[in-house]
Amino acid sequence: MLITLPDILSADQLATARQLLSCAPWEDGAHSAGPQARTAKNNEQLPHGCEAATAISQMVLGGLNRSALFFSAALPLRIFTPRVNRYSGTANTYGNHIDNAIRLKPMDGGGTECVRTDVSCTVFLNDPDDYDGGELTISDTYGTRGVKLPAGHAVLYPGTSLHQVTPVTRGQRLASFLWVQSMVRSDEQRRLLFDMDMALLALRQREGETAEATRLTGTYHNLLRMWAET
Ligand code: NI
Repeated sequence: MLITLPDILSADQLATARQLLSCAPWEDGAHSAGPQARTAKNNEQLPHGCEAATAISQMVLGGLNRSALFFSAALPLRIFTPRVNRYSGTANTYGNHIDNAIRLKPMDGGGTECVRTDVSCTVFLNDPDDYDGGELTISDTYGTRGVKLPAGHAVLYPGTSLHQVTPVTRGQRLASFLWVQSMVRSDEQRRLLFDMDMALLALRQREGETAEATRLTGTYHNLLRMWAET
């Protein structure tokens, strides 16, 4: 399931983020990739915990937490700390790969927490007009989809899918990315719940609260109870 989340960051937040990134200490993105992904990865990333990374990460988490669509589509249990990357110049692409299944999230008080990467998320920090190429290309059983969204918008896609970022041939592409361990591991089950939730929302808007909407809401929660791991 591939879902677009509009307006995760405001215009003001994007301006702040881009200002911070203009003087940030970028490092080679290969540092954080697994052995297979490292051979395909050629971009730059912010070091975890630097001022810009921390500020942008908080903005992104705040935006996702305000998004009912994010909650319904991802059913988050744990969220990996959002990172920030840049594609430009000679560090301009990330070839086909599947992300590592487990990420170790650094905890505030020291130590790490495992996050299973059920859902991947990219938040675009600058506009498609700023660069050529740089398309996030996601392949799954339905074929291949190219994604390039306006600044502030995000895309959610299954962590199980093969994906790449095509070479940026002009300008720079700035994005934040993160993974979600979902309460519902299966993309298929998450999709059924999301469709049902969206249909119920539309039904209530059109018909108000009806006995049928109440019963179907109960069914939604009973399916979630059956499938959720917490
Ligand atoms: Ni990836």
